[in-house]
Amino acid sequence: MSVIVRLATPLRAAAGGNATLSIDAPDLATLTREIADRYPELAARVLRDGEFGRFVNVFIDGEDVRFFSADGDLSGKRTVEILPAMSGGAVAPLPEQSARREHEVFGSFIDETIGIVARQTRDTVSFAVGSPSREALELVGADDLTATVLQREGASALGYGITEGEPELRAVVAAGASARGLETDASEVLISAGALQAIDLACRVYLRPGDAVVVESPGFANALSAFRNHGATVLEVPVDGEGLDVGEASRLIRRSGARPRMFFVVPNFQNPSGETLSLARRESLLALAASHDAIVVEDDPYGLLRYRGADLPPLASLGSRVDVVSIGTFSKTFLPGLRVGWAIAATDTIRRMTKVKQTMDSSTGTLAQRIVLEFHRRGGVEAHVGRLRELYRHKQERARTALAREFAGTGVTWNDPDGGFYFWVRLPRGVDARKLLDVALEEGVAFVPGQAFAIDRDHSNALRFSISAPSPERIDEGVRRLRRAFDRVA
Ligand SMILES: Cc1ncc(COP(=O)(O)O)c(C=O)c1O
Repeated sequence: MSVIVRLATPLRAAAGGNATLSIDAPDLATLTREIADRYPELAARVLRDGEFGRFVNVFIDGEDVRFFSADGDLSGKRTVEILPAMSGGAVAPLPEQSARREHEVFGSFIDETIGIVARQTRDTVSFAVGSPSREALELVGADDLTATVLQREGASALGYGITEGEPELRAVVAAGASARGLETDASEVLISAGALQAIDLACRVYLRPGDAVVVESPGFANALSAFRNHGATVLEVPVDGEGLDVGEASRLIRRSGARPRMFFVVPNFQNPSGETLSLARRESLLALAASHDAIVVEDDPYGLLRYRGADLPPLASLGSRVDVVSIGTFSKTFLPGLRVGWAIAATDTIRRMTKVKQTMDSSTGTLAQRIVLEFHRRGGVEAHVGRLRELYRHKQERARTALAREFAGTGVTWNDPDGGFYFWVRLPRGVDARKLLDVALEEGVAFVPGQAFAIDRDHSNALRFSISAPSPERIDEGVRRLRRAFDRVA
């Protein structure tokens, strides 16, 4: 049985920016214990000796906790409100960090894992990174593209650019989207510093502290942190074989009392689960968002990397009453280090995103944009993406075969995505992915543990397995090493 804990504004930073917390607790003692375990910084501010201290006022369905029943029974109760007491000096003294008026900020455990892998001195097969393989990067001929741009355009390729992006590149992006069923033109395109910046711009344009964002769980860690850094409450909804479970989203929204402002999905070959949002779910997600007057952000870095089956229409093309921001990137099919991505949205949204981008970086790097453009001007992009599909399709098959060979009969399971870079691998009950990672690094193999992709939900016995970087032979070797590591911890 869960209660909604509502936090007054001064307390939210101590709870990861959340305005509300949903906590399973049959009684007060469990509630305070859960707060202490899950939100230690908040506990430091509202609890003393395991109970709510005098420096806060706590109301349970409007009733002051001091007059609440002695056994603390919360059955039938819905809301616990925590407010700083008006007398006696606000809330308890802040922990040292907050005393310096710094609020908590969130990063990405994916990036941290990749950092850990990069620091390894022993030979390591990395199933951790989600970036294109070396041979994919070399396919594009970056040196020639760069030399051509610099020789032809000289210093102008190194000057500031227009905030919205190079006009011709905006037209290239619009044409690519139109070809995939999202009819648009350059005026609805903003070129961003990668998809990540586009996500952050959408947050800045749409979110206010305390707003709720509905996300997939497991979900793209960097986006989850972006929402939290903007003070949003994150509502994590399970993903199954059809992507985000929209029915469950509706139930969770109702139960939590949250008012969602944004739905965020990675509709194709999701990071980290590899799952794809079915057409029926795309439609019901849009309907659910419309019923809450919320916007939808679809982030689709992997849509072009489909190895089997037919493409599904972008959410923005499905004609609904909600605003949809469609985010894309050249990172997975071209060069991630150039940091060029985009957002497609209604012109008014693009105008607002442009304004906030002006306070961040003024414009995406001019040289990087022109290198992307030069690649497109030369033609052959379709053929290039076709080669990438073949490359990764082969790796995906190799990984599937290797996993089946090495993990038969172990209780380890994995899904079967139709594209993209990732498998979601589930470990038997009791095998913790972080502990497995420690041992795996000793064996010379890496992945990202499931914990990286959640805030409150438990994905500790799952891991993201990326096929993108290692060669097919290294995939075989890496999976053998992973089996050795598994045998040491299982
Ligand atoms: C779902 C998703 N969105 C965004 C990104 C980052 O894209 P970019 O490099 O364009 O910022 C990634 C990269 O891993 C991703 O998986």
